[in-house]
Amino acid sequence: MLDWSLRALSAKPDGSVVLEAPATSAGPALVLRPWCLEDVDALVEAYRDPVLARWAVSVPVPDSEAAGVRWVQDQQRRWAAGERFAFAVLEAGPDPASGHPASRRLVGGVVLKEVVPGKPSAEVGYWTVAHARGRGVAPRALEALTTWAFETFRADGLEGLELLHQVDNPASCRVAGKSGYPFDRTLPAAPPAYPLDGHLHLRRADAP
Ligand SMILES: CC(C)(COP(=O)(O)OP(=O)(O)OC[C@H]1O[C@@H](n2cnc3c(N)ncnc32)[C@H](O)[C@@H]1OP(=O)(O)O)[C@@H](O)C(=O)NCCC(=O)NCCS
Repeated sequence: MLDWSLRALSAKPDGSVVLEAPATSAGPALVLRPWCLEDVDALVEAYRDPVLARWAVSVPVPDSEAAGVRWVQDQQRRWAAGERFAFAVLEAGPDPASGHPASRRLVGGVVLKEVVPGKPSAEVGYWTVAHARGRGVAPRALEALTTWAFETFRADGLEGLELLHQVDNPASCRVAGKSGYPFDRTLPAAPPAYPLDGHLHLRRADAP
């Protein structure tokens, strides 16, 4: 069995972990890879969306180039520490700016977090760039992340993945339902970050 920290090291942010989700009738294939500094401009642009900024309650919002650089470097540091694994989600297709047909554009982010050695559960999170919503990007990226998480950490005791959202976020609840994360229980409000009750959805490693 690989030591937990060795697993984290073998997945360091050098592009060695690349996950894929196949194309559907709604959109092209997705590529998931660790965040890098070349994502900063698109990241800052994505967070100009007030809907996204609203739900980003627990992280400093990357609302400038400097904040975006700090945000990416923080993700890289926490990946190397083996506690949080954040992926940029990219869609194959022509770059609207350059028109280059082989380029990829940022359409969202997914994260595996609260990864603690010996702890049976960790947590997932996700968001989609405003212009890419409604095409199943988040469920497809979440499925790829979920498969990778269980493949990578199951042998170290990871038994389940938790997905949390506030009750007034029905789009997120739909992502949970479509991604095989059944409702588990209601969580009480935890202001100021979560002023309303929440849903906890749980996907077990041994679920069919
Ligand atoms: C929640 C979120 C990640 C869904 O991502 P997505 O890639 O659009 O996911 P889907 O395409 O599967 O759509 C999920 C639901 O969003 C809603 N939706 C559909 N089109 C939409 C659009 N253009 N804009 C907003 N919501 C839309 C629908 O209710 C849909 O459910 P349905 O497929 O049963 O109709 C995305 O809305 C988002 O980034 N929201 C802001 C950040 C956030 O809430 N993150 C989760 C915090 S817990």
